[in-house]
Amino acid sequence: MRIDVVTIFPEYLEPLNVSLVGKARARGQLDVRLHDLRDWTHDRHRTVDDTPYGGGPGMVMKPEPWGEALDAVLAAGPSAGDGAPVLVVPTPSGRPFTQELAVELAARPWLIFTPARYEGIDRRVIDDYAERLDVREVSIGDYVLAGGEAPVLVMVEAVARLLPGVLGNAESHRDDSFAPGAMAGLLEGPVYTKPPEWRGRAVPEVLISGHHGRIGRWRRDEALRRTSTHRPDLVERCDPAALDKRDLATLAELGWEPGPDGRFGRASRPVEE
Ligand code: ADE
Repeated sequence: MRIDVVTIFPEYLEPLNVSLVGKARARGQLDVRLHDLRDWTHDRHRTVDDTPYGGGPGMVMKPEPWGEALDAVLAAGPSAGDGAPVLVVPTPSGRPFTQELAVELAARPWLIFTPARYEGIDRRVIDDYAERLDVREVSIGDYVLAGGEAPVLVMVEAVARLLPGVLGNAESHRDDSFAPGAMAGLLEGPVYTKPPEWRGRAVPEVLISGHHGRIGRWRRDEALRRTSTHRPDLVERCDPAALDKRDLATLAELGWEPGPDGRFGRASRPVEE
């Protein structure tokens, strides 16, 4: 996969040389190219921002450097057909970045990220490229950062670990929270390793039992518990038809019951943990 990032802070993306993404780059599985937006300015101060039309606080990123930069990046590859890039625009006003979107992006050959600073990029840039490209305005969460570079690090890591051969063990994403499959829509429960006892705390007996059926059931109950506590919205969205009798019993213990609309709701006050 090829990834281009246009930014005024290429050094902010230094972590892309480290760990999983750094190794994927070194192995040639990921071709990441960083571009300094200021290389496409033409004034002495290498200006990339200006005051907003209509007034208000902050500055807006000028369209000209973005247009020149993106045209130059796009000129290096196909802009239509199977090889065409997805333009990913990080912004707190975008659609939520989810595991589903990460999976979709991981299947594409080329991503171009445009992390902005200040109050964002002049709207005409996004509107212009949206006429020719698949443009995704994406938010990594309901909070406002100082710029889109940290969101790019987040998204590139989430996508890169899904690329074939990037994670050591192909099974490792199977049970990820938010991964599709048997545990779809549930958060992953707790994990343990050696030693069997640490500071007087023992590893749950079932995990040392060697009984795969009981272990699977215990993990699923823990996933249900954790989801109920941390993300009740996921339980509410969950399809009861995808759950077995034991799942329903565990959820009932946690105070959840399927309602007449077929969705879960809190039957009563949840049992305190
Ligand atoms: N830029 C600033 N805050 C952001 C967020 N939450 N997601 C994506 N880009 C951003």
